[in-house]
Amino acid sequence: MSVQAHARARAAADRLRSRTGVDRYTTAVILGSGWNAAADALGASGVEIDVTQLPGFVEPYALGHQGLVRSVSGHRGDMLVFLGRPHLYEGHDADTVVHSVRTAVAAGADTVVLTNAAGSLDPNLEVGQLALVADHINLTGRSPVVGPRFVDLTDAYSPELRAVAREVDPSLPEAVYAALPGPQFETPAEARMLRTLGADLVGMSTVLETIAARELGASVLALSLVTNLAAGLGRGPILPEDVLRTGRAAATEAGVLLADVVKKI
Ligand code: 6GU
Repeated sequence: MSVQAHARARAAADRLRSRTGVDRYTTAVILGSGWNAAADALGASGVEIDVTQLPGFVEPYALGHQGLVRSVSGHRGDMLVFLGRPHLYEGHDADTVVHSVRTAVAAGADTVVLTNAAGSLDPNLEVGQLALVADHINLTGRSPVVGPRFVDLTDAYSPELRAVAREVDPSLPEAVYAALPGPQFETPAEARMLRTLGADLVGMSTVLETIAARELGASVLALSLVTNLAAGLGRGPILPEDVLRTGRAAATEAGVLLADVVKKI
């Protein structure tokens, strides 16, 4: 990461600490599209801050995103819960997209839990279902890492954390998540290509945050909520409102699972 991006994350972490009175965080949870309803399951908020009051954060966020961060006490210590995330398709650069992750790590977090809404490329992954991201294919053409820093991504999605999640729900499937830059959804031909490449899910987030977390040595757990089938696999067009509605309908249940997983980390 660039020196400036690092300094911005430290400044944001300092501001966050002084606003919340918490000296050190252990975990960050980033709630993606449709996942806001999951926030309350993670515990009552100590302090809730508009992210734009912190250095380096941007607004507005995409449909279904809020731009808030909550300080929540968990069993392992204090947790940062980000409601909403910026995306590349809003015109933000990779440093901006991963700023929450870097801020959380600068505030002490060694574990980052990422959530997203995704389209299914796999007939076994049904709408409304949750899946653990086991690996990714970064097709955004971007990276948050600059310079000759060769970040290993062999076990980018922590096998240990995935095992913890499967203790909570043994039926949780594992999936390979392909990230496109968006904002357009994939074409049916691109969906077939992604399937051929080995992807099970397709979305527009998560992968840069994972790379940034791994660069800093934090462990990553990522959960996808299947909100729709990828292009050409469903009956009609992909409608963003459907993606959001499905996300919201499943988010309360997803929040319970997420909270149970976070309790075991
Ligand atoms: Cl089907 N495609 C992409 N690219 N992103 C998504 C999605 C589909 N569903 C949720 N996010």
